Amino acid sequence: MAFEVVDLKEKIGSEVHTDVEMLLTPEAGASLRELLRKRGVLVFRGIHLDDGQQVRLAAHMGNIRDEGEKGIFKITLDKKESATADYLKGSFFWHMDGTHDEVPVFASLLSARQLCDQGGQTMFANTYAAYEALPEEMKRKVERLKAVHSVETSMRRAGVEATDSNVAIWRMLPDRTHNIVWTHESGRKSLVIGCHASHIEGMGREEGERLLRELVEWTTQPQFVYRHEWTPGDLLIWDNTGVLHRVEPYSIESGRMMHRTTLIGEEAFA
Ligand SMILES: [Fe+2]
Repeated sequence: MAFEVVDLKEKIGSEVHTDVEMLLTPEAGASLRELLRKRGVLVFRGIHLDDGQQVRLAAHMGNIRDEGEKGIFKITLDKKESATADYLKGSFFWHMDGTHDEVPVFASLLSARQLCDQGGQTMFANTYAAYEALPEEMKRKVERLKAVHSVETSMRRAGVEATDSNVAIWRMLPDRTHNIVWTHESGRKSLVIGCHASHIEGMGREEGERLLRELVEWTTQPQFVYRHEWTPGDLLIWDNTGVLHRVEPYSIESGRMMHRTTLIGEEAFA
């Protein structure tokens, strides 16, 4: 690969050094896909891609989800800028995207457009590495368990007001039940957990909640986590199928603005 790659943590995250011209070739897209699968998160410090360049890079890495304006979705808490600003409060908690789908999104590209003074750091936890490191007894325990996920669970946990209309919107997306241990087509295994998982099928509510909380705590230990302190022009890419993510809370007034491009999923939960 024609990039210089520096691993950020042993088990997650690599920084890629390249210039924009080299980055926007089909060959680079293919190499980055491979690296992303291995490392969970890729960081491009201060690369300052514009929207068009971000979409071109994404197109070389997969199939772009049709959202926002021409594949650029604005991430902000400002309701004037985003109709789904309230929903983003759920992102303050550890989660993966797309657990309400059978095929969750593959990856996201996120560029900093306007940073904030306080909070706003984005954190990622490697669910492959966390599964791998589980004690054998716990691996056996969770092997056949299924958790129930819903938008309503994450919204209530995030403290979004449960007005009649909000609840009606949340319930438009069906609850989904997924194996806690996802065996990918590659044979690798990761954990499907996060703030959207309410309980475990066939287990007492409290016991299930406790076990899910324990798994999130395990997965988000420092050795599995990369925390990104944003600087102007940074671009991050993460493999949503193998990492949890969250953002440290920031205020609505901060003006923080990120531009996201999402790659649609390629593999169903299993
Ligand atoms: Fe997210």
